[in-house]
Amino acid sequence: MTKVLPSLLASDFSNLDRDIKEMEAAGADMFHLDIMDGQFVPNISYGIPVCEAISKSSSIPLDVHLMTYDPTQFIEDFKNMGVEMLSFHIEATPHAHRAVQEIKNAGMKAGIALNPQTPVEAIKHLLRDVDFVLIMTVNPGFGGQTFIDSCLDKLDDLVALRKSLDTDFDIEVDGGINDETAQLCKSHGANLLVSGSYLFKASDKEKTIFKLKED
Ligand code: DX5
Ligand code: ZN
Repeated sequence: MTKVLPSLLASDFSNLDRDIKEMEAAGADMFHLDIMDGQFVPNISYGIPVCEAISKSSSIPLDVHLMTYDPTQFIEDFKNMGVEMLSFHIEATPHAHRAVQEIKNAGMKAGIALNPQTPVEAIKHLLRDVDFVLIMTVNPGFGGQTFIDSCLDKLDDLVALRKSLDTDFDIEVDGGINDETAQLCKSHGANLLVSGSYLFKASDKEKTIFKLKED
């Protein structure tokens, strides 16, 4: 089943609680939280205190996307705020397998994220262990960028690997998702759609979420 995850990076931070409630009322399935450290990506977003505030305000599950080095550093904090899904980048650590185990041991769903330049073969050894794979469809670091079409080939590769390994995991896409690119991603196997600027700019958010989900 397709789920839509608004990226709160595109929200109005001075009215975060209002925006959270509006997206929930419009039918959002989960919130996507982008954590950037200014090192792994050339931007800093927000950290643990803001995530805690979001967790208090929100009544739907949270999906945390770490764009940081040292992805296991704050596992305990995310666990304590009830985060459901936690992903980190394969490019950010030499200990990806250990990080997946630590996230799962903390009771969260573990995801591995890939930059556009990284082929899916780089995570083949992890595919039996992860709960989901996050295919970045823009270069991570900023909202509002244009979808990179070649990422559709990576979705095809990932779906083929999932079949050949006879395993199961969700496929999340993140970056430049709008009505048109959402349909493309779904037809190439994605079932979790992150949308930031497109969704937050929409005047009718309920209709926009419905259309993103529609097959
Ligand atoms: C980019 C982030 C995305 C971003 C998506 O590094 O990982 O989650 O917020 O924003 P849009 O949908 O505007 O591309
Ligand atoms: Zn993200």
